[in-house]
Amino acid sequence: MGGDPQQLFDFGRRTAAAQQSIALVRQFAAHTAFRSAMVEELELDEDFHRRPLRPEDLSFIDFTTPVVTESAFRLPFLAAQRLLLCANELEMARPPRDGSSAAFEKYLNFHSEENRTLAAQIKPFLEDFAFDFLCGEDAAVPSVESCVAQLAVLLQTEMAFWGDVFDHLVSTRYVEGGLGYILIQKQSLAGSKRVAFGKAGAMGYFDHLSPQDWPKLAQDETDQQIVRRLAELCGIAKGEHSYWQFYLSTSLAECNLLHALAARPGAALALSGAAFAAEATWLAFRGLIAQAGPCLRITNRDDLAGRRSDAANELLARFARVLGRIEHQYGLPGLRLVRQGLTAASALAGHARRNLEEQLNWLASVESYRDIARQISARIEVERPDIDRETFVEPREMCSTTHVHDDHRLVVIETGNMVFWGNVGMKLRLAPGEMVLVPEGRLHGSSIESDECVYHQPIIPDEWVRPLVRDRATASAAA
Ligand SMILES: [Fe+2]
Repeated sequence: MGGDPQQLFDFGRRTAAAQQSIALVRQFAAHTAFRSAMVEELELDEDFHRRPLRPEDLSFIDFTTPVVTESAFRLPFLAAQRLLLCANELEMARPPRDGSSAAFEKYLNFHSEENRTLAAQIKPFLEDFAFDFLCGEDAAVPSVESCVAQLAVLLQTEMAFWGDVFDHLVSTRYVEGGLGYILIQKQSLAGSKRVAFGKAGAMGYFDHLSPQDWPKLAQDETDQQIVRRLAELCGIAKGEHSYWQFYLSTSLAECNLLHALAARPGAALALSGAAFAAEATWLAFRGLIAQAGPCLRITNRDDLAGRRSDAANELLARFARVLGRIEHQYGLPGLRLVRQGLTAASALAGHARRNLEEQLNWLASVESYRDIARQISARIEVERPDIDRETFVEPREMCSTTHVHDDHRLVVIETGNMVFWGNVGMKLRLAPGEMVLVPEGRLHGSSIESDECVYHQPIIPDEWVRPLVRDRATASAAA
């Protein structure tokens, strides 16, 4: 083949039938496994067949306008990624929790024919909706060297990112909370990514590569031991998807992108590019784990730097071999396809870094966001007493499954008591008169701890929030 390859994901081909697809999405999300969480379901206790989706949000989420860079941290993207992981993992078998009839019913319901059929119907629509923005124009002529350089930049950027994140966690004394949150984003989703790799490999997607050159998400015994100890220290030792509510949209997306490509035989070469990008981000994450080990006195620092450098060189050399072989067999069209996947996955990794960084910054200093909230509240009273706000009246134990808002909001308690969280184990208690700022796109949930709670959510203009957040960051850096 020759010429420009087809765009990997393109919402334009979905617009004509969008309303039918949206109806199917709502039908899929109405399954009992996806109902909103009860207060005791903040952690899911390794229940693979239960995934709270907030299906009630689907009545107002607009799935007719595809995600763009500016909306990548908003609710439609989060909802689409949660739906996609459910749909993708319907194909993965996990046995019932025990021999009880309730456990068997739950297991069989999760994998019911109706659920599987709906999942297959909604995936292409949601993938084009959520990944179109990662697929830009790419007119440059590809070469082995430029593709290797692109992967090297991704690897270096990710390694530098984790170095900065770790320093920030240390300086804000949020090491255990932050590392736990990062482990959820990366380690807890690695198994699903490996399934996408394994499925693709078994179905011939990597047959154009020498078996020893296949991309992989390896983790040696030393790494696994460190991760286990870290997870225990950070209070997140439960298995797969127990922390479902704390997955960021972009973390889910990095997993779903691999599943999406691994379901398209015509995108096998693109999957190679995306899979090498995933391996680079995984290698960088392993570097963070190696850095965290000695800090938490789990390992010695001695042997780490050499191992990381060897692994990085091996990855780049392997990718160069792969690309050389593809160029030899398929010429520029082959390289173009690999680069499509590499570029999409690299772009997504950039969004994932920013989303995680903003979430960690907010979590690490949420107390200061109470101060910012008070400043904003005082300004509202003076300048905008009629500001747009939503008011809620909720009963005891009313639980809000984690979500994000598409604007900045204050949460201001009028009567009653609320507990508010954005991380496992976090409990920010808010009494009457107390408040906190929830910036746009920050993942959070809450529950009511009094017989009733009345609270308000004024919507705050971006130009009010930015200077205050910037000043906070400057003050914190100076300290
Ligand atoms: Fe909220």
